Amino acid sequence: MSGDARKTAEGLSYLSGFGNEHSSEAVPGALPEGRNSPQRAPLGLYAEQLSGTAFTEPRAHNRRSWLYRIRPSAAHPAFSRADNGLMRSAPFTETVPDPNRLRWNPLPEPAPGTDFLTGLWTLGGNGDATQRTGMAVHVYHANASMHRVFSDADGELLIVPERGGLLLRTEFGLLHVEPAEVALIPRGVRFRVELLDDSARGYVCENYGAPFRLPDLGPIGANGLANARDFRAPVAAYEDVEGPVEVVNKFCGNLWSTMYDHSPLDVVAWHGNHVPYVYDLRRFNVIGTISYDHPDPSIFTVLTSPSDTPGLAGVDFVVFAPRWLVGEDTFRPPYFHRNVMSEYMGLVEGAYDAKAEGFVPGGGSLHNMMSAHGPDRDTFDGASTAELAPRKIDDGLAFMFETRWPVTLTAHAARADHLQSGYDEVWQALERHFRPLH
Ligand SMILES: [Fe+2]
Repeated sequence: MSGDARKTAEGLSYLSGFGNEHSSEAVPGALPEGRNSPQRAPLGLYAEQLSGTAFTEPRAHNRRSWLYRIRPSAAHPAFSRADNGLMRSAPFTETVPDPNRLRWNPLPEPAPGTDFLTGLWTLGGNGDATQRTGMAVHVYHANASMHRVFSDADGELLIVPERGGLLLRTEFGLLHVEPAEVALIPRGVRFRVELLDDSARGYVCENYGAPFRLPDLGPIGANGLANARDFRAPVAAYEDVEGPVEVVNKFCGNLWSTMYDHSPLDVVAWHGNHVPYVYDLRRFNVIGTISYDHPDPSIFTVLTSPSDTPGLAGVDFVVFAPRWLVGEDTFRPPYFHRNVMSEYMGLVEGAYDAKAEGFVPGGGSLHNMMSAHGPDRDTFDGASTAELAPRKIDDGLAFMFETRWPVTLTAHAARADHLQSGYDEVWQALERHFRPLH
């Protein structure tokens, strides 16, 4: 952390839009015109393509960027295995899938000198990183900036800070992300996480599947939910550093490390649509009922990773943002339900309208496929007797990673000291009210 880093973070400029072709050059003339890979790239740079989708995927979903860099990424010695710490990856086989409702408190304080990568603690996940299916849920708690560079060949990383700002130095430039914002680092993009405060805590969805995209809007129309223009991509910024830099690569579930003799964040110009983003969740245009009933939470989808079955996401990122509740003759909090999808929920700030207590910022809950859940007793009693005037919920920001497959826990998540005992009890006190008429 440093005042200089925060000043840098707050002075950044950005490119607006999601999934469209962006371009940026840190030095005038660095970006070639009319060709991706001219015989000699401008200014003595090397041209390199980074593909996020197969070359032949449909144009609407194709992701790739061209990077113009001081040295090609290929200029490195062999990788060797590095310690995975408490990061785990799919397939998750340390435990059997658990049908119980589970809830965790925030991670404990990390040891001094814990950076973002060492501070990653995997809760669980599904699919298979080698098959590019499924997802992982990680939480992190760090108190030191990274001095190394990381990239994830297994998937993209959706970082959801809960405490502490981050400066992400990426190949594409610098991103500043604070709690109530999210950052999306595409598969394979190299980056370093620097802390802007004494410590940083939050959540990460690692998506092994198709890149996150904005959901279709159907009858909602051309606007609404997360608007593309509110996603911010960085402008080109490069490090011209000669000297040893450790680069860690997550590949098929394990960390591998090598030493470059220069910084790999040496991209002077780039263009493309496989780029990192920051998005402010407070910009989410919440759509909801103006008549009756609580809509299904899919109405709150920020980003979706489609699977091979139309409408069935590998993982959705869903936000429960401040909004007005106006439904008439309606039980307004989330209803009791059993869902074929599996739900991991986290809380960035405040409280969540289905739970009176126990679900705290930095903690999380897991309701696996078909597990029965919903409001606790206090919430049920309050909401079913409340005077139904229009009411604004503006005291919390919760989110959900919702996935088509059950989440299997890591061994350390299943036996963690901060796994709450007695979560089932929040539903035990729900009273019988049935009074048959006769
Ligand atoms: Fe749920």
